[in-house]
Amino acid sequence: MDSPSPFLIVAIDGGAASGKSSTARALAARFPFLHVDTGAHYRAITAEMLRQGIPPEEAAVGRALADLALGTRVQDGAALLEIAGRVPGEEIRSPAVNAAVSHFAALRPVRAALLQYQRGQAEVARSHGFRGLVMEGRDIGSVIFPDAGLRVFLHADPEERARRRAREGQQDSIAERDRLDSSRQHAPLTCPAGAIDINSTHLSLDDVVARVAALVAARLSPP
Ligand code: CDP
Repeated sequence: MDSPSPFLIVAIDGGAASGKSSTARALAARFPFLHVDTGAHYRAITAEMLRQGIPPEEAAVGRALADLALGTRVQDGAALLEIAGRVPGEEIRSPAVNAAVSHFAALRPVRAALLQYQRGQAEVARSHGFRGLVMEGRDIGSVIFPDAGLRVFLHADPEERARRRAREGQQDSIAERDRLDSSRQHAPLTCPAGAIDINSTHLSLDDVVARVAALVAARLSPP
């Protein structure tokens, strides 16, 4: 008798506008796996701190986080972070959040709160009957799921990434976010040892998805 296929965790990390979200979404739909965009978590918390007028300082943010009830809504194959029962909307992609998110994401209480929350998404995926989880971010393969069945790191030249963000019509200083994200003390952006490094500068989205999908398929049904 065939043994049931294993539950697979796929970690996709990379810098700003490196193609993580599009790749993760396409992969999740193909298999189907639960899709989790952890950048949206940091953005949602940042939007909430800005709304409450809280500065990016550990003590103040730690106190505010203790009062935030975080939940999860599974919708259309994705797990969305709820804050006090509400999934934040497009405000998480505003220029104000783009400018502030890396400052909040560098804080220990923010990372500690999201570490447990994000690890818990594997159980959310299992309990909803998904065969796996695709989680994208900056520290998924290094900190959140270092034992993930597949860890991918996406690179692209800064000029190409700036073009992609401009095509999305967004005002976003991606080079500055990358600088802050790579140089912070806690869970910096880095390609962890053992992760599969893909440079997408000259690849189409379909090419990147095909490459990663082949790696996923090989892990789901090893020879
Ligand atoms: O817009 P883009 O896809 O480039 O970024 P994002 O994935 O939405 O992440 C926004 C910001 O959240 C990043 O610049 C990081 O400061 C932070 N982040 C993080 O620190 N760790 C993660 N795992 C994901 C995002």
